Amino acid sequence: MSIRLGDIAPDFEQDSSEGRIRFHEWLGDSWGILFSHPADFTPVCTTELGLTAKLKDQFAERGVKVIALSVDPVASHIEWIKDINETQNTLVGFPIIADHDRKVSELYDLIHPNANDTLTVRSLFIIDPNKKVRLTITYPASTGRNFDEILRVVDSLQLTDNYKVATPGNWKNGDDVVIVNSIQDEAELRERFPAGYRAVKPYLRLTPQPNRKTA
Ligand code: BEZ
Repeated sequence: MSIRLGDIAPDFEQDSSEGRIRFHEWLGDSWGILFSHPADFTPVCTTELGLTAKLKDQFAERGVKVIALSVDPVASHIEWIKDINETQNTLVGFPIIADHDRKVSELYDLIHPNANDTLTVRSLFIIDPNKKVRLTITYPASTGRNFDEILRVVDSLQLTDNYKVATPGNWKNGDDVVIVNSIQDEAELRERFPAGYRAVKPYLRLTPQPNRKTA
C-alpha cells in the first residue's frame, strides 16, 4: 500500500541492528525519519548512512529519531556498520531494520517491482510526533539522497506548524518566509508579525522568520 501525506505511519514490530523495534513505541513523542536503502555493502548506501550518522547532533537538536531499513538480515547490518564506521569516519548511532520477511517493505511500499523485484527502493519518510507522515521521497538506487535537504524540510515543517507562514523555494533556516494568505486582517498581521512584512503582490508577502535566532 502506498503511503500518502497525512496518513498515520503504519506501526510494526521488526528486528534491527539494535534489537527488536516496536516502531510507534520507539518513536515516542519524537519526530522520526524512516529511510530505506537497497542493500548492505553497497557504495552509495554506505555514504548515506555515514552522512546520517554524522548529522546526529543536528537531528537531536530538532527532536528527530532516525531509523534505516533494508531487507538484509541483522548479522549483515552489524558487519556493514563496522565498515561504515571505518570508511566514513563516524559511529552509526541509530538502528537499521532487518526486514527479512518484507513486512515493513510491504506496509511502506518499499519494493517497486518495475525497478527491482527484490531490493528496497531509496525512500524516506518524515513522521511528526502525532505519527503523521509529513514527507515522502523516493530516489533511484543510483542517486544518494541529500540529507541537508531532509534537515531543511524538518526545519520548515517545525516552523510552519507553529506560525502562520510557509517557506519559499530554496528557503533555508533564517531566511525570510511567506505569510499564509488566510491572514488578511491588518491588526492580526501586526500582532503575528511584529517585525512587519513586505507585500511584493497581495498574495506574496514576505516577513522575517518569526523564530529566527539572533546572534
Ligand atoms: C549503492 O548503494 O551503491 C547502490 C545500491 C543499489 C544499486 C546501485 C547502487
